[in-house]
Amino acid sequence: MAGQKIQAPKGVSEYAPPRSSAFEFVRESLISPARSAGYQLIELPVFEDTELFTRGVGESTDVVSKEMYTFEDRGGRSITLRPEGTAGVMRAVIEHGLDRGQLPSKLWYSGAFFRAERPQAGRYRQFYQVGIEAIGLDDPAIDAEVIAIADAGFKKIGLTKYRLDITSLGDSESRAAHRVDLVAFIATLDLDEATKSRAALNPLRLFDDKRPEVREAMTNAPLLIDYLNEESRTHFAQVRKYLDALQISYTLNPRMVRGLDYYTGTTFEFVHELLGAQSGIGGGGRYDGLMAELGGQSLSGIGFGLGVDRALLAAEAEGVISAETFVSDLFIIPLGDLAKEKALQVASLLRNQGKTVEIAFGDRALKGAMKGADKSGARYVIVIGDSEISSGTVELKEMKTGATSSVKIDSLLTAL
Ligand code: HAM
Repeated sequence: MAGQKIQAPKGVSEYAPPRSSAFEFVRESLISPARSAGYQLIELPVFEDTELFTRGVGESTDVVSKEMYTFEDRGGRSITLRPEGTAGVMRAVIEHGLDRGQLPSKLWYSGAFFRAERPQAGRYRQFYQVGIEAIGLDDPAIDAEVIAIADAGFKKIGLTKYRLDITSLGDSESRAAHRVDLVAFIATLDLDEATKSRAALNPLRLFDDKRPEVREAMTNAPLLIDYLNEESRTHFAQVRKYLDALQISYTLNPRMVRGLDYYTGTTFEFVHELLGAQSGIGGGGRYDGLMAELGGQSLSGIGFGLGVDRALLAAEAEGVISAETFVSDLFIIPLGDLAKEKALQVASLLRNQGKTVEIAFGDRALKGAMKGADKSGARYVIVIGDSEISSGTVELKEMKTGATSSVKIDSLLTAL
C-alpha cells in the first residue's frame, strides 16, 4: 500500500550509526589476526547450488533439514542462501585449483550468512561471520594456530569472559569403531521415529538433543573420545601441548557436538559467559573428508567461523567498547567562504595523515555549528574566520575539558 512503512524482514541483524562503528571494529578485530598469519581473502557468492550444502553440511543437521533459505531461481535451479562458509570455500578451492599450489591454502572470509532459525537475542536469520580455512595440512600445530587466531581476535576486541571447549572426533577409523557401539546403545533406547531417523543419519546428533528425556537417556552413552585410535590420540595430544605452549586455556568437552556434519578430529567452540542461551561466539574444527565428499582430492582442512553479531553483543555485555573510540579527531567550523576553502584544504591534509576530520558546512551561525560539533563527539574543534586566516593561528579547543590553546594551522597535526 502506498505510503505505508516497510520494515526489515523478521530476525535479521542490521547495523546503523552509531552502533555500526562498534560492529566494524569487532569485525576488523576478528579479521586482523588472520591477516597477520598470512591468510588471504576469498570473496564468495552468498548463494550456491543447494546440493553443495546438502552434501557438504549434511542432511542430519538442523541447518540443512530445517534452516536453509532454498528457492528455485528463474532457470528452475535449486539455489540456497549460504548458511555457513566452509562448503563454499571448498567448492571454490576445487573449482579454482587452489589445492594444487602451495599448501596449506590459507583463506579468510567475512560476510552475511542465512539460517531460518527462530529469532531471539543473538540468533538471527541473517548474521555475520568472520572465518578462516587452512586446507591441505595434517600438522597438529596448524590446529593450535587456527584456535590461537580465533582467540587473538576475541582478545583484540577486549573480551575476557569466555572459555574455549575442545574435543576430538577422531579419524574415520576411530569414528567407525565408536559408531558401532553408539548405534547399539541407541537401539536400547525408547525413541520416537523422527529421532530414530535422525540418529540413523548421524548418531552423534543425539548428544545435541536439547530434550531432557533424551539428555537423560544419553548420560551413559559411549563417548567418541574413548575410541580414538593411536594416531588420533597422538594428534589431539599434540594440539593440546601446543595450546599449552601458547598459554591458551581450554576445557575438554567430549560431549560437544558441532551443528555441522563434516567435522573430524580436533573440534572447538568459544563460549561467552554473559550471552545466555546463544553463547557460542565462534566454533570450528577439522573436516578431513569434506573435500573428497565435494568431488575434490582427498585433502584435510581446518577452520573456524566467528559470530560477529554475538562478539559485538559480548563486547557490549562486558562494556569493553567505548563510543569514544569511534569519534572524529577534529571538527572544523568555517566562517565565510574563504574560510570554507581553508577548511577544505586543512581537512584534506590532515585526513591524508590518517586523522578523522569533519567540517561544518551549510553556513550555519557559530552557535548552531558548535552544537553540531558537540553532537559529533569530536575530540577537538577549531573555528576558522578571517582573523585566523590572516594570523595563520587557531584556537584548538578540547571538547571534553573545554581547554583551549593557540596553534599554528601548519602545526595542527602535531597538536592533535
Ligand atoms: P557454526 O558454529 O555453525 O560454524 O557458526 C559459527 C558461529 O556463527 C557461531 O559460533 C555463532 O557465533 C555464529 N552464528 C551461527 N548461527 C548464528 C545465528 N543464527 N545468529 C547469529 N550468529 C550465529 C560454522 O558455520 C562453520 N562453517 C565454522 C567452520 C569453519 N568450521 C570449520 N571452518
